[in-house]
Amino acid sequence: MGVKGIDHLGIAVENLEEAIPFYRDLLGLEFMGMEEVPEQKVRIAMFRVGESRVELLEPTSPDSPVAKALEKRGPGIHHVAYSVDDLEDRIAFLEEKGVRMIDSRPREGAGGSLIAFLHPSSSGGVLTEMCRRPGHEGGKGP
Ligand code: CO
Repeated sequence: MGVKGIDHLGIAVENLEEAIPFYRDLLGLEFMGMEEVPEQKVRIAMFRVGESRVELLEPTSPDSPVAKALEKRGPGIHHVAYSVDDLEDRIAFLEEKGVRMIDSRPREGAGGSLIAFLHPSSSGGVLTEMCRRPGHEGGKGP
């Protein structure tokens, strides 16, 4: 049981199309594509950064958690996602230790991943995600 690495950083943006060129053309990150994740009421754009990724998040609805974050804090870093192989065990371990989970069961994330968020009140104000990529060890991804 252990964290394999940082799977991705989630960054909240008002508008994907306006945000993408900075990451793709100025920072030179490899653009992997866009996807809608209805479960989280977001559209995302993914960039490869070595073995990690940057995930830009644009809300698709005013009641999206990302819309609320934008309202409160404006655009910027939204969450940190760690890659794990044993998501269910990890959730059970954290709950046993008294950590408050937003997701006490894995749910669907981008790219067929399974994810679970910890509540920021239990993680020092940093919205923290545990992420398991499909068919790959520790979220190294395709
Ligand atoms: Co994420």
